[in-house]
Amino acid sequence: MTAQVLVVGSANADLVVAAERRPGGGETVLGGDTETLPGGKGANTAVAAARLGADVALLGAIGDDGNGRLLLDSLRGSGVRTHLVRTVDRPTGVAYITVTPDGENSILVSPGANHALEPADVDGALDGARVLVTSLEIPLTTVEHAIAAAADAGVLTVLNLSPAAKLADRTLAALDVLVVNEHEAAWLLGDRSADPAGLLTLGPSSAVVTRGAGGAVVVTADGTTEVPSPEVEAVDTTGAGDAFAGALATALADGSTLADAVRSAVRVAAVSVTRRGAQPSYPAASELQ
Ligand code: RIB
Ligand code: NA
Repeated sequence: MTAQVLVVGSANADLVVAAERRPGGGETVLGGDTETLPGGKGANTAVAAARLGADVALLGAIGDDGNGRLLLDSLRGSGVRTHLVRTVDRPTGVAYITVTPDGENSILVSPGANHALEPADVDGALDGARVLVTSLEIPLTTVEHAIAAAADAGVLTVLNLSPAAKLADRTLAALDVLVVNEHEAAWLLGDRSADPAGLLTLGPSSAVVTRGAGGAVVVTADGTTEVPSPEVEAVDTTGAGDAFAGALATALADGSTLADAVRSAVRVAAVSVTRRGAQPSYPAASELQ
């Protein structure tokens, strides 16, 4: 059983609290009621792709607990194939998320079961895939192996470099598409005002920089293209980057050019920020008119 889009990544239960502001060190702030929502960068990406109609599987790890069941329900309810989601002897990953009135979030992740995802889990999972998408809330050795194996098999490789971490040069060089937000781009390039075209010198064939309300920038050997975002009122930006990655992979698996795939991904991410939560906020293809 294979899917055209394979997501290798994390699954977390998101414990979300709305607050007027975030506490500083040693400070206590009272917030609203806790909501427990399905999240995690890998599961989010897979759900975003499935809602858009992609044939997608998640390779991931959860615990044998209520949070793990919450994630399986969300994945299956959205049409993600879950035969590659392993249940392991660690608690399901948890993300502690504070959302402030401007829609901005801050996130502390306890990876738990996500740490159990091993390089060997990738072997066999790629058969028949067209696009691999991965992100960095799982062991980096697993990410590096997945990208190398996919590149060897002629599968298109997409990395959402989030949360930012240092990867081997050969991993970046094996990438078809590197996806970063502005902070991650500045971190990689060592300079906030650096030209995004510099990302290609790190090795990937192409790069996409997401800029929130500012849309995205696509960098290929042919040049740089800016893709604007529709104007929306943001209530919760949690998981917008994952929605972007899932929509991008869906369009690429359908044979879109990178620029067209980014146009679609920008629209999907814009819808996602107008609703609360990560997975619950992702649109179906029919909602994008
Ligand atoms: O990218 C958003 C995700 O980051 C959240 O769903 C949370 O689980 C953390 O992994
Ligand atoms: Na959202």
